[in-house]
Parts: sequence; C-alpha cells; structure tokens
Amino acid sequence: MKVLLLGGTGQISTGIVKALQSRGADITVFNRGQTDNRLGPGVRQLTGDRNDFPVFERTMAAAGTWDVVIDMICFRPDQAESAVRAFAGRCGHFIFCSTVCTYGNTQTIIPTLETTPQTPHSAYGRDKVACEKIFLRAHGGGAMPVTIFRPSHTFGPGGGIINNLGWAPTFVDRLRRGLPIIVSGDGHGLWQSAYADDVGLGFAFAAGHTHCFGEAYNVVADEVVTWDDYTRRTAAALGAPAPRLVHLPTDLLLALDRPRFTALEEIFRFHGVYSNAKLKRDVPEFRLATPYEEGVRRTVAWMDAHHKVVSADTDPFEDRLVEMWEKFSAACGRSLAIK
Ligand SMILES: NC(=O)c1ccc[n+]([C@@H]2O[C@H](COP(=O)([O-])OP(=O)(O)OC[C@H]3O[C@@H](n4cnc5c(N)ncnc54)[C@H](OP(=O)(O)O)[C@@H]3O)[C@@H](O)[C@H]2O)c1
Repeated sequence: MKVLLLGGTGQISTGIVKALQSRGADITVFNRGQTDNRLGPGVRQLTGDRNDFPVFERTMAAAGTWDVVIDMICFRPDQAESAVRAFAGRCGHFIFCSTVCTYGNTQTIIPTLETTPQTPHSAYGRDKVACEKIFLRAHGGGAMPVTIFRPSHTFGPGGGIINNLGWAPTFVDRLRRGLPIIVSGDGHGLWQSAYADDVGLGFAFAAGHTHCFGEAYNVVADEVVTWDDYTRRTAAALGAPAPRLVHLPTDLLLALDRPRFTALEEIFRFHGVYSNAKLKRDVPEFRLATPYEEGVRRTVAWMDAHHKVVSADTDPFEDRLVEMWEKFSAACGRSLAIK
C-alpha cells in the first residue's frame, strides 16, 4: 500500500506512520522539513509548502498516484480545494483529518455521535466543516473516495501537556512544584485525552478499506475524566505532589483576560465527550492501548529532553489570580477552598 501523508512529522502523524509501518506500507511524507523528524529510516520525504498551491499541485502531479493520501494539515477551504485539484483521480482513498470542534461542544447528547449536527462556534471548527464539505463533494462527484477523521484532544511526544485553561506551557512545572492549579467552573467538566500512537492506529487501519469510504469517524479515548481528575492524574503520573486545585468561575476568567483564555472560551469550558463506537466497529485494530499516565510520562520525557518545560516563574498570572481569589474569600469572611 503506497501512502502519502501531508504533514507526517507532527504528533498524530508520527503515530499514524508507526501504525502504517506495522502494516508494511510504503510511506512518503510531505512537509517543509522544519519539524523534528522522529520517524526513523524507511520513510520517504517530499519537501515543500502546501500553501504554495501551484508548486504543491505540480509536485503532486509529478509524484504520480497513491493508494492512500492522508491530509493532516488542511485547515482552510482554499487548502481543501487545492488538495482536491492535486489528488482527484490520483488516489485510491483520501483521508482528511478534521476535528471534534466541528460539533461546537454545546453537547446535549453525551457522548457525541458522528451524526450529531455540526454547529461549530470557533473559526477553526467552522473552517474544518467547510473543508469536510469540499472533500465530501469531491467524494460524491467521484473525484476520490474520502473518509473524515475527527480527533479530540490528542497528545504525545512532539507536543505538550494541556491543562484546563488551555495550553499553558508552565503547567508541568507548576505541578512539579506543588503550585496551585486553577481549574475553571467546579472542576467537573468532562474530558477525553487520547495518546497519539493509539489515534494513529485508527487512521492507519482505515486506510484503503472500502467500507470506510464516505464515512466520518470520531477518533477519541475510551476514558472520560473530570478536569479535576485529569489534573490529579497528570500530577500523579509525574510523581508530583497532589495538586492544590483552585476553582474559579469561567466567566470571571474570561472577563479578566479573554485573549489568554480563548481555548477555554471555545473548547475547554464545555464537556468534551465523543463516541468512538463507530470507529471500533469499522476498524477493530483501533485500540486505546496506552494508559493515560504512561502517555504523560513519555510526553514529559520528550519535553524534558527538548527543554520544553517552561518555568512557572516566567508567568506569574496564575499566582496573581489565586492571590486575588484568596483576598476575595477573606473579604467575604471565608477561607479559600483549595481542594
Ligand atoms: N492534537 C490534537 O489535539 C488535535 C485535535 C483535533 C484535531 N487535530 C488535527 O490534527 C491535525 C494536526 O495534527 P498534529 O498536531 O498532530 O500535527 P501533524 O500533522 O502531526 O504535524 C504537523 C505537520 O505538518 C507539517 N507542516 C506544517 N505546515 C506545513 C506546510 N505549510 N506545508 C507542508 N507541511 C507542513 C509539519 O512539518 P514541517 O513543520 O516540517 O513543515 C508536520 O509534519 C490538524 O489537522 C488538527 O486540526 C489535532
């Protein structure tokens, strides 16, 4: 099976490549050659920028045909249109990496199924829906068979560890030092985090399968945790002290610094619970084999080795918020409830 990945060296892509290798696939990746390549030998590299559409499309025309193309880095309709021009009639199966942010997160049915109406409230989610439509139109018109994958949060070496407020690069250091950790709301928001190698199995073992053509799949973890538990388990995985959790109202956090908390506003304040049952039914090789704690240890080992753990001293904002909350509590004649 001759497979091309657009992307290929990032978090999810690396998991897909590993899983494709276990299938004995002949793999080529296309990227700019800027991101650290953790793929090892045996993977062919095409270098270029997918946003330079004429050159990208000429490169793909010259590269010939593929059994499978997996597009990991399409975020905008113009990129999707370019991909259709590049691969129509030149690939046996096209897999588009979308996102669960296409659903819009205001969940009334938990877990969210692939049939749930898509009403995204972020520009990211809206653009991904527009891309999905372009690819499904190409599928319907016979240009190429298309499958859509919608990951939720996926982590692993090459990236970081998120927290409930977003992608705070100081989170790991705060946990290790036992500093207070702010969790929005009452800490009971629900969340799923999947390890990149496990998510990679879903993409890689759907590749080339006709029963996946024209379908969309959530590709998410089995486990659902509250944000409080997420934070506690992350600390335990690192051998850090049990975290001191401080609950602050989401509306207060947004009022204090909306730009800082965009991810909280658009994603993390909502329950994020999605069903993976359809993917498990159609792609039985998809298994959540990596315990969350093991995934955290591997990711943070990579962060440590690449000096990606940022000192909490560089960003005193979270401590200032906790201090403000302590003063507020004291003014109300209460002691701050740190859990
Ligand atoms: N991680 C999550 O939690 C999550 C959740 C939902 C959906 N997703 C979706 O997953 C996809 C990304 O997965 P990922 O974050 O794991 O990244 P990835 O695809 O695994 O890594 C990004 C790759 O794209 C290449 N690249 C970036 N810009 C490029 C360009 N202009 N031209 C050519 N190559 C380019 C990078 O290499 P170079 O820098 O060398 O070019 C790298 O190989 C996205 O579609 C995202 O919407 C991720």
